[in-house]
Amino acid sequence: PEWSSAAVPQMGFNNWNSTHCRDEFNEDMIRSVADKMVSTGLRDAGYRHINLDDCWADWQRDKSGNLQPNLKRFPHGIKALADYVHSKGFAFGLYSSAGTNTCEPHQENRGFPGGLGHEKQDAAFFASVGADYLKYDNCNNEKKPAKERYAAMGEALRATGRPIFYSLCEWGENKAWLWGADPKVGASSWRTTGDISDKYDSMLKIFKQNVVLDAYAGPGHWNDPDMLEVGNGGMTDVEYRSHFSLWSIMAAPLLIGTDLRKISPSALEILLNKEVIAVDQDPLGKQGKQVRDAKGIHVIVKPMKDGSQAVAVFNEGDAAQDVTVSAQELGLKAGKYRMRDLWKHADTQGDGSIKLKLEPHATVMYRISAM
Ligand code: DGJ
Repeated sequence: PEWSSAAVPQMGFNNWNSTHCRDEFNEDMIRSVADKMVSTGLRDAGYRHINLDDCWADWQRDKSGNLQPNLKRFPHGIKALADYVHSKGFAFGLYSSAGTNTCEPHQENRGFPGGLGHEKQDAAFFASVGADYLKYDNCNNEKKPAKERYAAMGEALRATGRPIFYSLCEWGENKAWLWGADPKVGASSWRTTGDISDKYDSMLKIFKQNVVLDAYAGPGHWNDPDMLEVGNGGMTDVEYRSHFSLWSIMAAPLLIGTDLRKISPSALEILLNKEVIAVDQDPLGKQGKQVRDAKGIHVIVKPMKDGSQAVAVFNEGDAAQDVTVSAQELGLKAGKYRMRDLWKHADTQGDGSIKLKLEPHATVMYRISAM
């Protein structure tokens, strides 16, 4: 399948940001989300992964030592759910941790069974139920070296012969961007930060940590500043548009983290902005470079395969600002340019420079092409 090489950043859905481990995380929810992704056009806009997070598993392995699903949440089992998800045209993802247990306590304050020391058996299990994606967390890791732990699972996944997208989740603690692309590990993406929450300050902090790591991202291996909060209600639409713009200009994974059964029209419109998605998914595979970080204004430039430049201008501060960005600052030669506003879906012509008033927490995005 074309997604398995991670040629472009992964897009899809993960339940964590909306449900954590609450009971509503179950097979009815995942099936309804899959249906909704088809009916809203999200699947056809590129959101092709449906991934389960922590708490999908039973707290004990079975008699043969295999992972097994929590049958209260998934009464028909994991294979049946994977089959359903596949039948709707999606790839299916599971979760574990490179430790003795996962993160979320269930009893005796321990997480669910983890993959450390069970890599081959668990990888075989993931392949046997039809998983196409593994998010591999970092809890209860016994302080063993991260690269070794993540390489052991990477090797085991490859040995199954099934293409499985490998998403590392060590929160940037061991700088996975320095070793995740090593073929011994074979990561498709790696988290660069701690967990996002549905607040502007959290999104801003994570953006700042991830935006400086552009040198490490590229086709096959992406920086992952965590999943989207768009639609969860803790930010304004302006802030959610900034979140989506910034993640896209950083070529970040676009994993929807809201309960799509109850998404608002305005949040759905953000997630369906195809011109912004095209920036994220551009085949050249560059993470945008921050060319200005001053007085609360961030300017990020992302070269695109067709020779155009995608540009995001973000005002992190609480007051509106008049902003001028010269064509030179964007790396553009003197000339005539078509400027496509990716939120207004409108064109203007000019010399490539940008001059505007930017509202607090707002981002404008352009795609600038030579004429
Ligand atoms: C920590 C990860 O960073 C989160 O994304 C989520 O997977 C939780 N663990 C689940 O316990």
